[in-house]
Amino acid sequence: MSSDLVRVRPGLARDASKLRSIRLEALADTPDAYGETYAECAAWDDEVWTRKAEEWNFYLAEINGRVVGMARGESHNTRSDIRFLFAMYVAPSARGTDVARRLVDAVSAWARVQGVNSLYLYVSNAVPRARAFYAKVGFVATGSSLSMHRDESLVCDEMCRDLEEFSFRVRAVEASQLYDLRRRVLRDGDPTVDVVNPGDGLVTTRHFGGFLGERPVVSASFYEVEAPFAPGERAYQLRYMATDFDVQGRGLGAQLLERALEELPRGDVGRVWANARTSAQAFYEANGWRVVPNSLFVSQETGIDHVVIQIPLV
Ligand SMILES: CC(C)(COP(=O)(O)OP(=O)(O)OC[C@H]1O[C@@H](n2cnc3c(N)ncnc32)[C@H](O)[C@@H]1OP(=O)(O)O)[C@@H](O)C(=O)NCCC(=O)NCCS
Repeated sequence: MSSDLVRVRPGLARDASKLRSIRLEALADTPDAYGETYAECAAWDDEVWTRKAEEWNFYLAEINGRVVGMARGESHNTRSDIRFLFAMYVAPSARGTDVARRLVDAVSAWARVQGVNSLYLYVSNAVPRARAFYAKVGFVATGSSLSMHRDESLVCDEMCRDLEEFSFRVRAVEASQLYDLRRRVLRDGDPTVDVVNPGDGLVTTRHFGGFLGERPVVSASFYEVEAPFAPGERAYQLRYMATDFDVQGRGLGAQLLERALEELPRGDVGRVWANARTSAQAFYEANGWRVVPNSLFVSQETGIDHVVIQIPLV
């Protein structure tokens, strides 16, 4: 398995059919672990699965692009102030690896960004392996339990995991740690697009990652490139600014930029500039960047509208 590409990522609306097949596999494999039944969910048509894929905050684990596991992170329907891990499943072929832990860590990262300090779950007494796994990754029983609606003999214990280690941290990283984010968030997840930049390994280039635990959730890379509007002056170009889908809009991108702008080596470099998607213009302006007048253009690489923005490096 060591040379296999293992990836855990937030699921998107376009993953509806993958969600359907892994969820039905889980319900068929371990029916006593879940409140829903295979029969109930197998009756849902494509439209329902498309809606679920849009509404659910779910995560997929993939090995070489094949889905081998899933989990959901949601607010409980009657306890909206706490976050729950639901629908955890890893295919038999991927059990005993770190896939299950990575799924739980992905949900833990999301929960932490929602402002809570603990992640809760219910585990059925019919799945001792699941309970042992949860204990191994730091969940402890809270003492509460409830019976499954459809079968009173299935008792589910509540467990909870402390999320302290999932506080947001920014650090300098190698470019390769950011390639997955670049591809998924900025290039539609297209596996054929090259996300390696020729300048990635230059000594003047700096890459920063924002992490929740060990999960990279924000990326930004700075290349020493003159600004088109200020030829002859040394400057950094910011590229590949991306925040993962499930944690966008929570201030993480702004925190990463603030730290990166503090840490970039100055020398006689006086500014940072970027080609910013117009959809992100308000984000940059709120963080002190200014749009270069009359700089609107369409990117040849992505076909998306951009403006040129800049900020002094003081
Ligand atoms: C629960 C699940 C996600 C855990 O993933 P996993 O990859 O199997 O987990 P791990 O192998 O890392 O850990 C399981 C632990 O349970 C132990 N274990 C295995 N069978 C066991 C059993 N019958 N009783 C108690 N412990 C058991 C394993 O030895 C291992 O501990 P160790 O690493 O200290 O040896 C996965 O088993 C699964 O999808 N099961 C079916 C669905 C399910 O039960 N979901 C839970 C819904 S709440």
